[in-house]
Amino acid sequence: MDFFSYKNGELYCEDVPAEKLAAEFGTPLYVYSKATLLRHYRQIAQAFAPVNPTICYSIKSCGNLHVCKLLAGEGCGFDVTSGGELFRALQAGGDPKKIIYAGVGKTDGEIRDAINTGIAAFNLESEEEIENVDRVAGQLGKTAIGAIRINPDVDPKTHIKTATGKKETKFGVDIERAERVFEQYRTLKHLRIGGVHIHIGSPVYEIQPYIDAVKKIVDLIDRLTARGHKIEWFDMGGGFGVNYERPDQAFAVTEHAKALLPLLMGKPYRIALEPGRYIAGNSAILLTRVLYRKQGGEKKFVIVDAGMNDLIRPTLYDSYHFVWPAKPDAANVPAERRKDLAPVNGEIVDVVGPICESGDFLAKARPLPQTTRGDLLGVFTAGAYGFSMSSNYNNRPRAAEVLVDGATARLIRRRETYEDLVAAERGL
Ligand code: LLP
Repeated sequence: MDFFSYKNGELYCEDVPAEKLAAEFGTPLYVYSKATLLRHYRQIAQAFAPVNPTICYSIKSCGNLHVCKLLAGEGCGFDVTSGGELFRALQAGGDPKKIIYAGVGKTDGEIRDAINTGIAAFNLESEEEIENVDRVAGQLGKTAIGAIRINPDVDPKTHIKTATGKKETKFGVDIERAERVFEQYRTLKHLRIGGVHIHIGSPVYEIQPYIDAVKKIVDLIDRLTARGHKIEWFDMGGGFGVNYERPDQAFAVTEHAKALLPLLMGKPYRIALEPGRYIAGNSAILLTRVLYRKQGGEKKFVIVDAGMNDLIRPTLYDSYHFVWPAKPDAANVPAERRKDLAPVNGEIVDVVGPICESGDFLAKARPLPQTTRGDLLGVFTAGAYGFSMSSNYNNRPRAAEVLVDGATARLIRRRETYEDLVAAERGL
């Protein structure tokens, strides 16, 4: 559930009309709802409260400082995956002791910075990386702490580009090799390995792959413990799906917790989670205006001012985002956002952006109410991997971001300028 809804026939974010935001801040515009963000974070915290989890928000999903600050204020930690993300998490007031650092390709410089910052742990993805973190920590005269990311070989049944838990992706150490690797690195001088990490994919719409993966890891930890390894925490990763296509598309996090808690209660190790999309996904919409309409052969195009540089998910993952006018005619005010919603007197259109690529679309063959130039459209569930994957392609300044809290809206990232586009190339 989120706080984007139609009231008196027009789209609101919390208590602010979308049209008002677009008029004040321009389009394309990312609009975040504070109440939605906090609601989703608290849902996870409450659902897993019986195991008192450490929740590390996956900052790659949406890293705006003001969004991250809100979460840090709730006691949330961060899952980072680059030096830049670590910097961002710290800038947002993240507690280093709640920051975990994942990723298959950490450089020496990034490892050094993370150790000096005093992060909670590295999630280690390969034997060579383990040896390197030990070496870099040695150079610093410090001891690093890490978990080994295990590839549990379960099929998360998600898009090929975002499935990570199956064998032969680049992530983690094969589960068959896990015990050997723990044994091999039992007594490193400058790296203490105390945890096990998994992340099976994103977004995942079934609970069973999680159950399968967690069972495998709980058994693995039992075997490791029997061999004298001290496992202090199990980081279960993220990946929980959200409702892109209909209100009941994703399982409730309470269901997820109900299925997993019995496997985890009473264990002598701590539990960590790394949700990104579940917190950020439904917390933002992208507002965009219709620039033109045109016909090409049998096809109708609605050309809008947001492109694949603003939201790349549709073209990269064939992903679906509900798109709808902010002020539809009375017959087309949606009661629910559903993929199968049929507009009254509507038309089938491709909603495309201004970028010079045929892959630049937000929606394909989509039944929409009639629109005209200047109409405002909402592109929903755009909070996760929306702005964070946006780019300057075609030299388009990136969109502004706004945070709504009740009846007030605050700019949390200004729209980029043309000068921003060339700033790093000046004065060399
Ligand atoms: N932990 C690790 C180690 C991850 O690699 C990821 C996401 C997460 C946690 C957070 O997953 P989440 O809870 O947000 O699903 N750009 C794609 C998604 C890529 C996910 C990458 N890793 C998309 O737009 O669907």
